[in-house]
Amino acid sequence: MLTLSEPTLLRSQNLIDGQWRDAGLRARLAVTDPATAEAFANVADSDAGDARLAADAAAASFPAWSRRPARERAQLLKRWHALILDHQEDLARIISTEQGKPLKEARGEVQYGASYVEWFAEEATRICGDIVAEAVPGRKLLVLKEPVGVVAAITPWNFPLAMIARKIAPALAAGCTVVAKPAEDTPLTALALAWLAQQAGVPAGVINIVTASREHTPGVVDAWLADSRVRKVTFTGSTPVGKHLARESAATLKKLSLELGGNAPFIVFDDADLDAAVDGLMASKFRNGGQTCVCPNRVYVHDAVHDAFVERLAQRVGALHVGPATEDAAQIGPMINARAVDKIARHVEDAVARGARVVTGGKRVRSADGPHYYAPTVLVDATPAMELSCEETFGPVAPIFRFRDEAEVIRDANDTPFGLAAYFYSSDIRRIWRVAQALETGMVGINEGAIAAEAAPFGGVKESGYGREGSRHGLDDYMHTKYLCQGLLG
Ligand code: SIN
Repeated sequence: MLTLSEPTLLRSQNLIDGQWRDAGLRARLAVTDPATAEAFANVADSDAGDARLAADAAAASFPAWSRRPARERAQLLKRWHALILDHQEDLARIISTEQGKPLKEARGEVQYGASYVEWFAEEATRICGDIVAEAVPGRKLLVLKEPVGVVAAITPWNFPLAMIARKIAPALAAGCTVVAKPAEDTPLTALALAWLAQQAGVPAGVINIVTASREHTPGVVDAWLADSRVRKVTFTGSTPVGKHLARESAATLKKLSLELGGNAPFIVFDDADLDAAVDGLMASKFRNGGQTCVCPNRVYVHDAVHDAFVERLAQRVGALHVGPATEDAAQIGPMINARAVDKIARHVEDAVARGARVVTGGKRVRSADGPHYYAPTVLVDATPAMELSCEETFGPVAPIFRFRDEAEVIRDANDTPFGLAAYFYSSDIRRIWRVAQALETGMVGINEGAIAAEAAPFGGVKESGYGREGSRHGLDDYMHTKYLCQGLLG
C-alpha cells in the first residue's frame, strides 16, 4: 500500500502541453509492485497518436523556451530542484514501490537525481561560445552554442528518477524542450517528477511525458524517430535497443546520446588494500540489487589474495538483509520482474554446470514475500566460458575469476564488446596509471567503487554507446555549434 504525504504526486495520465490527459485509445497500463508482482496503480497506455501530440507540444513551445534568458531557465530548474528535495520521502516511496529499490537507497536516488537538476541549473548560465581571431581583416568570426530543438528521452526502470532528471535537466538548461517515455515498469516516478516541474513553473509543452506498455512502446518511439522536428534522442538501456534507435533515427539524422549495456570488470591486484576493495565491491556490485549498468559483472582477483578476499567478501554478502524494499531494514529488495530473476537463476545454473562453486547465496529466497527475490551470491572459479562472463547478469551475483598477471587480466577485462565502466584496486602508482589507460571503458574507478557524480561525465565507449551525461560535457550534448562570419567591418 503506497501512502504519500502529498497524494497528488501520484499521477495516472500523460502530461502533454501542460494538460494531464488520458491516452487517445483510453487504454491503461497496470503498474506492479515487484515485491508482490501485484498491480497497485495504473497509468495511460499511449500509442503513436499520443506521441505525436507530445511532439507537437514540444515543437510549439521550443521557440519561446529557447529564447528565455538562461538565468530564467536556471531559476526554474532551481525551483524544481528544491521541490524534488522537499518531496524526497514521497518520491523515495514511489521509487521503492514501483522499482523495488530499498528505501534508504531510494532516498539517495532522489538526492542523486536532484543533484543533476541543480548542476545543470548552474551550467545553464555558463553557456558560452567563442570569438575567434580573424584570418582576414574586416571580418569577425563568432561561434555560438544553440539548443538542438525537441529532445526525445527514453529512460530505464533501474533509476526511475535519476535517469530522467539527468536527461531533462540539461535539455531544459540548454533551451531544448522534451518528450519523454519512462520505462513501462516504472512510470509513476517520472510522472511525479513532471508534476513537480509544473509546480515549479516550467511552462506548458516544455516537458511532455507519455507512458506506454511494452507492446505500445515501439509505436510511441517510432513516431518520434520518424518526426523530423525531434532533433535528438537520448536513451539509457540495452545495446540492441540503442542500435535500433541509431538505425531508425538515421533517416532524419538526429543527434544521439546512448548509454547502453556494460560488462564491468572489477580487478583486485595483489598490492590492493583488501578491506577497501571489499567495501568498493559491496558498494558497486550490490547497489540496487546489482541492477545497474555500471555494476561489476566480472570480479578478477589476484591468485595471491584470492582466498582472503573471497572470505571477507562472502561474510559481508551473506550478511546482507534481503526483504521488501519499503521496509527500512532491506538492503537487497526484489528484482524488477520475473524475466530478471529468471535470467539471474539461469546465469548461476549455467556457471555451476560449467564448474563454478557457490560460496554464498545461489538461490531464490523469501518466496513467501513474493516471487522475485534472489539471494546475494558469491561464486568462485568463474571462467570466460560462462554466460555471466559475456552478458550482464543485472542481479546480486559476484562471480570471481582468479588471475596471475597484469597483462593477462587487462586482456580478459577488455575482451568484451562493451566499455562502460571498470574498477581496479592497487596501491602501486605506476600500475595505477598503466591500468587506467589500458582499460577500454568510458569510466574507471581507481580504488573507488562509487563513481557516479553530477559533476563527472558519465558514459561509455565501444558498444556501451556514446555521449556523456553530467558535467559540462552533458550540456554540450544538447547543443549544436553555430559559426557566424561577419564581413564588411574593415
Ligand atoms: C545506470 O545503471 O545506468 C546508471 C547508474 C548510475 O547513474 O550510477
